[in-house]
Amino acid sequence: MRVLQTLLACCLLIGSSAIHSSEVQLPKQAGIASAHPMATAAGHKILAQGGNAFDAAIAVSATLAVVEQQSSGIGGGGFWLLHRAQDGKNVMIDGREVAPAAAHADMYLDENGEVNRDLALNGPLAAAIPGEIAGFEHLAKHYGRLPLAVSLQPAIEAAAKGFPAYPRIIRTIERKAKVLKRYPASMAVYLPNGQVPKEGELIIQSDLANTLKAVAKHGKAGFYAGEVAEKMVQAVRENGGIWTLEDLQNYTIKERDPITTNYRGHQLVTAAPPSSGGIAIATILNILSAWDLTDMDRVKRIHLVTEAMRRAYRDRSIYLGDTDFVEVPIQLLTHPYYAAGLRASISPVKAMPSDYLPGINDNPKGEDTTHFSIIDTEGNMVSATLTVNTGLASGFIATGTGVLLNNEMDDFSAKPGEPNAFGLIGDDANKIEPGKRPLSSMSPTFVFSDDQVAVLGTPGGSRIITMVLLGLLDHFDGNNVHSWVSKPRYHHQYLPDKLYLEKDALDPATIEALQAKGHVIHQHKGDWGNMHAVSWNKTTGAVDAASDPRTTTGSAVVK
Ligand code: DON
Repeated sequence: MRVLQTLLACCLLIGSSAIHSSEVQLPKQAGIASAHPMATAAGHKILAQGGNAFDAAIAVSATLAVVEQQSSGIGGGGFWLLHRAQDGKNVMIDGREVAPAAAHADMYLDENGEVNRDLALNGPLAAAIPGEIAGFEHLAKHYGRLPLAVSLQPAIEAAAKGFPAYPRIIRTIERKAKVLKRYPASMAVYLPNGQVPKEGELIIQSDLANTLKAVAKHGKAGFYAGEVAEKMVQAVRENGGIWTLEDLQNYTIKERDPITTNYRGHQLVTAAPPSSGGIAIATILNILSAWDLTDMDRVKRIHLVTEAMRRAYRDRSIYLGDTDFVEVPIQLLTHPYYAAGLRASISPVKAMPSDYLPGINDNPKGEDTTHFSIIDTEGNMVSATLTVNTGLASGFIATGTGVLLNNEMDDFSAKPGEPNAFGLIGDDANKIEPGKRPLSSMSPTFVFSDDQVAVLGTPGGSRIITMVLLGLLDHFDGNNVHSWVSKPRYHHQYLPDKLYLEKDALDPATIEALQAKGHVIHQHKGDWGNMHAVSWNKTTGAVDAASDPRTTTGSAVVK
């Protein structure tokens, strides 16, 4: 038993720069933090039925796909970062959507060469081939312990019996109503009798329940082939889209080696391309690693962190894209020497202006897309960020399937230098190509420290990376999971050259001092993000979980 425990301890510590000999206490309880109580409850239910964290991840993802459709769904995709306790394996399941075979670089340009933003964001032409269901099957087959049919059961019930409408989904339906009204199947779910559902009114999705049942019965073939696939392709093509049955049949998930990096004794395991998040976080932390931020004067700290963000987002726009299509210099971008060069260009007293390329708009609120974190009592962990892209995505439900299609094509660069919905710009590395995955910012992350493990992530478009970064820095300062998710946020993404602040994030004196250094402050009227995190103290075995207080439906439960 003792040998087994020591062996397990070694596995649990794999990836930790500070492997030490003291015994690891397995988590005394399981922790799940997600964006909706029904999803968190579904995860715990599956654990109670003998499932592990990976089975629970299917249940949480699938339930979110029903009750938080504005954020993620089976018509979308995402990344599940896994840590398997038994052998210490860290892997990212890449269920990102891919561009259909008929997609091409100019597909959203009008006759004047301008991007048609409506086509890029609304309706089925905006939709890439979904990856979420293929992710479920892969998780169940290779990492889980229970049949897919069992893990999908809570989601099937939620779709068939309905869930009560809540303010966040109601707001998104209101915002998207004009697009939803174009499509009868979308109207039927979100605007029954032409009305936005009232708070507490049940949103029932019988077609979606049937589609999930087909997946429970046939695995991914229940979605990527047969009746559901045929109905989706027919509906897409009748409404101006370009999907084919072959596109669906050809979809495959990829197992990616996560990006790993060290920061002052902490070992990070985070998202690999096609996410830009892990690389950007590694660059930023490498730049910052030379300084002791914890005891630093606040203004100086924000200035240096901002300058590091600026430089990493500049690299994002130039170098990053799907590594199956473009060569991304990962080794270089995540190397401490490279960061040392970038650090040398930072003045401690002056902001460096970012003086070219177009700017960003002010919408990304950060509620659309979802993140959840899980630790089970064996020490298995999942950090998953899943998305349909913007709120209620393309607004298009394929008739007879209940599947709301993503608008992830907008995460490609539709034209070099042209900002997408999050103001992100890109170039050739992220241009549209058939079968390519659009560049993402989603950054599910694990941190292994001497006595603690952290699992965290958030939605928020381009701000995901900086939110995760600020959560990490707060963790490195010694604060707990409740603090990581609630800390006030600031953000810089190179262009436009603005330091974005959440409402009340900084006091007037700090703002003035940053302005004196040359930072252009953009005071946001509200807040952003929806972080869900879990921690495990390896010395005591204590597990803690927290959900972002900014959104009211977050649900963090340890039991
Ligand atoms: O993959 C990405 O980076 C985006 N599609 C995520 C979108 C998102 O977080 C929306 N929330 N505001």
